[in-house]
Amino acid sequence: MPDINKIREDFPILKRRREDDGKPFIYLDNAATSLKPIQVIEAVVNYYEKHCANIHRGVHTLSQEASQLYEEAHDKVAKFIGAKNREEIVFVKNTTEAINYVAYGLNWKPGDEIITTVMEHHSNIVPWQLIRDRFGVKIKFLDLKDKWYLNLEQLEDLITEKTKLIAVVHVSNVLGTINPVEEICKIAHEHEIPILIDGAQAVPHLPVDVKKIKCDFLAFSAHKMLGPTGVGALYIREGLGEEMCPTFGGGDMIRRVTLEKSEWNVMPWKFEAGTPNIAGGIGFGAAVEYLEKLGMEWVRNHEKELTKYLLERLHEIPKITVYGPEDVEKRGGVVAFTVEGLDSHEVAMYLDELENIAIRSGVHCAEPLHMKLGIPSSARASVYIYNTKEEIDIFCDTLEKVIKELT
Ligand SMILES: Cc1ncc(COP(=O)(O)O)c(C=O)c1O
Repeated sequence: MPDINKIREDFPILKRRREDDGKPFIYLDNAATSLKPIQVIEAVVNYYEKHCANIHRGVHTLSQEASQLYEEAHDKVAKFIGAKNREEIVFVKNTTEAINYVAYGLNWKPGDEIITTVMEHHSNIVPWQLIRDRFGVKIKFLDLKDKWYLNLEQLEDLITEKTKLIAVVHVSNVLGTINPVEEICKIAHEHEIPILIDGAQAVPHLPVDVKKIKCDFLAFSAHKMLGPTGVGALYIREGLGEEMCPTFGGGDMIRRVTLEKSEWNVMPWKFEAGTPNIAGGIGFGAAVEYLEKLGMEWVRNHEKELTKYLLERLHEIPKITVYGPEDVEKRGGVVAFTVEGLDSHEVAMYLDELENIAIRSGVHCAEPLHMKLGIPSSARASVYIYNTKEEIDIFCDTLEKVIKELT
């Protein structure tokens, strides 16, 4: 059983104190990005200090070492999500870029249709709008049912013979809802439609196995799961990558180039044009190693416990409305709320000022969902492996104080 105090020791920011009053940082903005453990920081530094060279281009020792570390990071990420091997793992910049790779990698025809949902992050809406405007495809949206859940019955009605892709978020970054992605993939495959899962809020927090889910694409970001910023992954099911167009052309993604034409490299390098984020990729490998040591079952259970406690405490505070499922079996550790009479930014600002507490405020890149909920914005607290019930107590006590004083 991992020891939470030992885990906290690994995160340098948790040792930092505010200059004027010595208060520690209470970091509850994990859905935006996670803190980084020393093991990840050291993996990045180690590359720059000991193995700094470009990959796949040199026969010299440093290049060979850097290539090996970078390739092994793909293996680690592949194993982490249950992919067959590194050929199914393309390193990209982040979830957003991963989704755009799919958007620009498929061969669209005017009249093709994409189904996504109203609970998506902008990164799973805007790329489709761009594709719509460029290729004349149509976007359809799966709606909500019973307040916080997707209306799965509607999915069959939305599917037609023109549906070219279904793109769904696994865990909502506002409601916390865990969508039944296995069931959605099954429906998609019954109709022979490829399916993309936005795993940005799922892969860091739940055991995610692509073989079990049976998705065709899975997009996620390293920075939300202890890894560096500027790197993420796109899982592409074996065989699909060969059918897709490379999104970018240039060095490393080719096997042979003449002035007339080029032949593509094998997967996953076909999609990794140019010098990649080598240090970031190596750090990503160290991040999944860290999570694997903890065990994703433990991560999920720890977050369930914290979320249950957070929800209970929030419900005791007057003037607060919480959005998302009550049942922690059906939700992740992202908890959005509004305070009657206070703007979400004001709430976040006072928490920061009074007790050095970090939460997110605004629409969390999910403006259509906020419109649907009929609120201009929300405040959002989100937990991760290093958070404690004591931190949640300080957060809730401070929130209560702010509400009492300002409303
Ligand atoms: C559900 C979801 N999808 C996509 C993203 C985009 O992630 P990134 O900014 O790392 O591309 C986020 C980020 O908050 C998210 O929560």
